Amino acid sequence: MTRPPAAELPPALLREFASVVGGAHVLTGDATAGYAVDWTGRFRGHAPAVLRPADTGQVAAVLSLCREAGVPVVPQGGNTGLAGGGIPGHGEVVLSVARLDRLAPVDADAGQVTAGAGVSLQQVSDAAGPGLDLGVLIASRGTATVGGAVATNAGGLRVLRYGSMRDQVRGVEAVLADGTVLSHLAGLVKDNTGYDYPGLLTGSEGTLAVITAARIQLVPRPAAPVTAVIGLGGPAEVHDLARAALRAVPGLLSAEFFTRAGLDVLAGHTGLVPPLPGPAFLLLEAAGPGAAADLAALAGDRPAAVGATAAERARLWAFRERMPEAAGFLGVPLKLDVSVPAARWVTLATGIGAVARAADPGAQVIVYGHVADGNLHVNLVPAAEADGRHEDAVFGFVASLGGSISAEHGIGALKARWLPLVRSAAERALFARIRAAFDPAGILNPYVLPR
Ligand code: MLT
Ligand code: ZN
Repeated sequence: MTRPPAAELPPALLREFASVVGGAHVLTGDATAGYAVDWTGRFRGHAPAVLRPADTGQVAAVLSLCREAGVPVVPQGGNTGLAGGGIPGHGEVVLSVARLDRLAPVDADAGQVTAGAGVSLQQVSDAAGPGLDLGVLIASRGTATVGGAVATNAGGLRVLRYGSMRDQVRGVEAVLADGTVLSHLAGLVKDNTGYDYPGLLTGSEGTLAVITAARIQLVPRPAAPVTAVIGLGGPAEVHDLARAALRAVPGLLSAEFFTRAGLDVLAGHTGLVPPLPGPAFLLLEAAGPGAAADLAALAGDRPAAVGATAAERARLWAFRERMPEAAGFLGVPLKLDVSVPAARWVTLATGIGAVARAADPGAQVIVYGHVADGNLHVNLVPAAEADGRHEDAVFGFVASLGGSISAEHGIGALKARWLPLVRSAAERALFARIRAAFDPAGILNPYVLPR
């Protein structure tokens, strides 16, 4: 049985943890504060201890101790998650993978690299060298870790080209709740030898095992990327132009949507001056021969700002990549990352404001997202109590459009209650059986995904 969450752990257990990871890496009291809150401030918890193992053997030993003591554990990477899945919301111990930071040399033959769970995505990209890159690009890449990105199946800004994290993962090393180490890191492109548990662990949100390393397939580094921001009349125009870009721009890497309303908030708080007129914007990025001409042809005579140097591109990307900050300036946002089939994205993007305000007339809503993936980030700063009414409204609307209540951030603690909207009883029963097979004692992230 999992022991009820405790404000304090028995001193003897803390001493055992210290004998494994070293006393300096068993944090208690005030030292745990940064691990117990997410960056939006929406999720706040309490960790009776934060454990910082240095290698896979230490992860295994720590998990064995937790399992024997019935102590629930929340694995945590860079703590950039947006669904509360890495926060000890019920007094769990935090197992930080930050010190699992070993990055092996790139295997140039395979175009792959093996990275410890605590390596940041930026470090993987930097280590990939001039010809290769990590296919997943997210704004929090400097802090987000390989372990967290695999555990949440991170998506981001280049999914239309390279897929999400699951598409990059060729293998994992992970530790089960009883301390068993699983390792499948050879990186074989063809390997039909049974269940694809690395694929299953990807996106499992710390509920099945603690990922300690991943074998990552790198992608060719995009050559001479060009970025264009185009001002448009609204979501329908954004969607149409993004679909046209998918067909007409062979080197397309990104198709991102954001709004004037979001930019105005950013401008008010950061001085970031909106680049163009338009209630809606489409940011397109493409690389390779003819990319600049392809984007120019696509933009036609619409208002557009184009950047080809690193500095110009960074200036244009800031409008989109800093959008998550905009809602934060208005209050503590509910971050609802939803997706719908491509043909329904315009209905979602145009209807979501009214849907949210019907539930909470004073709510402030900032939307942006990955239009080519059918993904909209609904950032909602409630005026009314955040008692589930906002999720009921937004997720209900999304489900009615045949969509998903989590396109990329995961179910976490935020959405566990609404999983039945999008997953049948039979599916959830299967989830529970899978979970019980990996973690019979139920100590891994017990409040994430319904048990
Ligand atoms: C993004 O696309 O900017 C990220 O998913 C983060 C967010 O939704 O705020
Ligand atoms: Zn996103």
